Amino acid sequence: MGVGKTAPMALPTEHRQVLIASLPNGRLRTEDFEVRSAPLPVPGDGKVLCRTVAITIGAGQRAGLQGSASYAGAPEAGRVMGGTGVAQVVSASGGRLRVGDLVWGQTGWQEYSVQQPEALTVLDPSVLASDHLGVLGLNGVTAYFGVTEVGRVQAGETFVVSAAAGSVGHVAGQVAKALGARVVGIAGSDEKAAMLVDLLGFDVGLNRKSENFRTAFRAATPERIDVYFDNTGGDLLESALFRMNQRGRVVCCGVVSQYDTSTPGPGPRGVPGLLVNNRVRMEGFLVFDFEPRYDEARRQLSAWMSAGSLRALTTGYSGLESAPQAFVDLLAGTTSGTPIVQVWEA
Ligand SMILES: NC(=O)c1ccc[n+]([C@@H]2O[C@H](COP(=O)([O-])OP(=O)(O)OC[C@H]3O[C@@H](n4cnc5c(N)ncnc54)[C@H](OP(=O)(O)O)[C@@H]3O)[C@@H](O)[C@H]2O)c1
Repeated sequence: MGVGKTAPMALPTEHRQVLIASLPNGRLRTEDFEVRSAPLPVPGDGKVLCRTVAITIGAGQRAGLQGSASYAGAPEAGRVMGGTGVAQVVSASGGRLRVGDLVWGQTGWQEYSVQQPEALTVLDPSVLASDHLGVLGLNGVTAYFGVTEVGRVQAGETFVVSAAAGSVGHVAGQVAKALGARVVGIAGSDEKAAMLVDLLGFDVGLNRKSENFRTAFRAATPERIDVYFDNTGGDLLESALFRMNQRGRVVCCGVVSQYDTSTPGPGPRGVPGLLVNNRVRMEGFLVFDFEPRYDEARRQLSAWMSAGSLRALTTGYSGLESAPQAFVDLLAGTTSGTPIVQVWEA
């Protein structure tokens, strides 16, 4: 998925977009989206027209559709589905961007978008678009700051991460490992649990759906937990709270167990009693808090990739129309790593 510079191309008069057809009621379905054709947008003064190369989908976007993600605003049917993508500039009039530049920004689920140049990050075209969207994208950066700044993991500590085979989770576990922690990952199948160990170098992989999960979880954390990186909330958060060490840290990254439903469950038992008794710090964060430091995270993540201590996992989809299915799969736990929807082969 490397993208090079190309000559100016003839532009079509129409392009395809994926709209939110209806706000999900219960679990997300592909029928909640609709593909339609629309006139090609025309960039106004100072703006640029971009052709989407690939998009990624994050679990947090389901919280956006639920109305529970403060940063995403109120969800609304009839709109183009929002989202992050890598795109190529296809029309620009002066300014810092040139036709052919590869950029990262809020492309949405559509083939073309008009963008403010300041809202775009110019990318290195020699890096895979899937890496720009995954391990070096918002989810990779989320993992980096969640582990280093919120969890403040130290060498020798026990680090546990939920949704460990997912986009944020697989990077978080590898970052903690690179920093010298003992890493336990929780995922949704035996295959994923084995992959965490065999492919990504985690110390232990656990299947949250197995009958003996609670016993296996205790056995995997004999010295209890110093940092729990919580992507899920729900039962897993509760189980981890009961295993925290004194002065442990719970990194509240997301609540995916409560997104794909119209009836989110209550919070876990143990708050605040266990936090008080064990002097545990439980802290939520949003990656946007760290925006001025994104480059620092990307440099360190790239260095770990070059050194072979960080492996990027992706699940690929082909064509804009496959985005709704990728979203449904992500929530159902059938993807691994970052879902990447290839929209255009530049
Ligand atoms: N704080 C921030 O700034 C920030 C930024 C980005 C993402 N996030 C959060 O990070 C988390 C992960 O996002 P992602 O995009 O990387 O998604 P992801 O982990 O790639 O995909 C979601 C995973 O959650 C697991 N899951 C689904 N339902 C579950 C349930 N009921 N209980 C436990 N696990 C369940 C599934 O994995 P298994 O079936 O394998 O367990 C699924 O693959 C989300 O909570 C998201 O909101 C936060």
